[in-house]
Amino acid sequence: MTVQNIRFDVSTNELILLDQTLLPHEARYVTIETLEEAEHAIETLQVRGAPAIAYFGAFVLAKEAERLVDDPDFTRRLEIVGRRLIATRPTAVNLQNVIESLLELNSGDDFEQIAGEIKRRAVALYERDVDTYRSIGEHALTVLPSGGNVLTICNAGAIATSRYGTALAPFYVGKERGVTFNVFACETRPLLQGARLTVWELDQADIDVTLITDNMAAWTIQAKGVDAIIVGADRITRTGHVANKIGTLQLAVLANHYGIPFYVAAPHSTFDLMADDAIEIEERDAKEVTHIGGQPTAPVGITVFNPAFDVTPPELITGLITEAGVFEANETAITHHVGGTIHV
Ligand code: MRU
Repeated sequence: MTVQNIRFDVSTNELILLDQTLLPHEARYVTIETLEEAEHAIETLQVRGAPAIAYFGAFVLAKEAERLVDDPDFTRRLEIVGRRLIATRPTAVNLQNVIESLLELNSGDDFEQIAGEIKRRAVALYERDVDTYRSIGEHALTVLPSGGNVLTICNAGAIATSRYGTALAPFYVGKERGVTFNVFACETRPLLQGARLTVWELDQADIDVTLITDNMAAWTIQAKGVDAIIVGADRITRTGHVANKIGTLQLAVLANHYGIPFYVAAPHSTFDLMADDAIEIEERDAKEVTHIGGQPTAPVGITVFNPAFDVTPPELITGLITEAGVFEANETAITHHVGGTIHV
């Protein structure tokens, strides 16, 4: 059993988060009471990973809807809550997809019924998606070489989803079936999701994992004979462009150079069929680059560029792996497999 990242009590609306900023040193759960605390939790990455912030946002919307049921201005105020949640992280589309879909319920004057339905769907989504990630893992196992060396970046694991993860799903599902892999995890500067989270959760599950710094990727592929690269995604467009953690693009370029497959694993809620190659990239505080673990590592006041994500073009992607299977990153295949299925 993997670690649970979010707990929501349907009878009391108590919302509890595993604070991912404290990992791996401390597995502390924090209670989220207000909308402001929820926004802060997403912005500071206490909860992170495109699917996980969407589940969290859905629970916050459900909680706020119930709080507002006696307010005559319910409809407008709930819409504002949804918009504020969506604005917290602009690149990951799951949050937007899920909140917009829940806000479609926000019409009419039976506020209690609307709040109840939002809560029911939020809970169902978190539970149902366990099967989604399991399917992603199963499909990934059909293309990854058993016993092989597989490189990943950031954390697209159990704590970024509702279980199993996306890019890490084949390692968990493989473990259940006796299929092993040697996983190489890039540490993922600036916020070290690889070092702090991926290595931690795989190690907890007794899955073989080796940590490298980001600038060791090319040499590791060459020296250790990496067979494949698999990553998660924050937004996949109609044209097959993939936004994911900064550093993903350079891994795709390396995979191309070394002639190894480069896979992107994500649920259908990560697709944005309205978008092409123009994706808004979140830029974060310079301090994430000038400091490590709160300690300064660069001259004070130095100019910094800190994009949280990059965009990998479809020609560098061997295959997209979703709950529907493995298919090419092009508009025809995406429309065929994903079109019409993005609903919550
Ligand atoms: O900034 P983060 O830690 O939220 O970035 C997360 C990623 O880039 C993941 O690869 C992506 O959200 C997929 S998680 C299943």
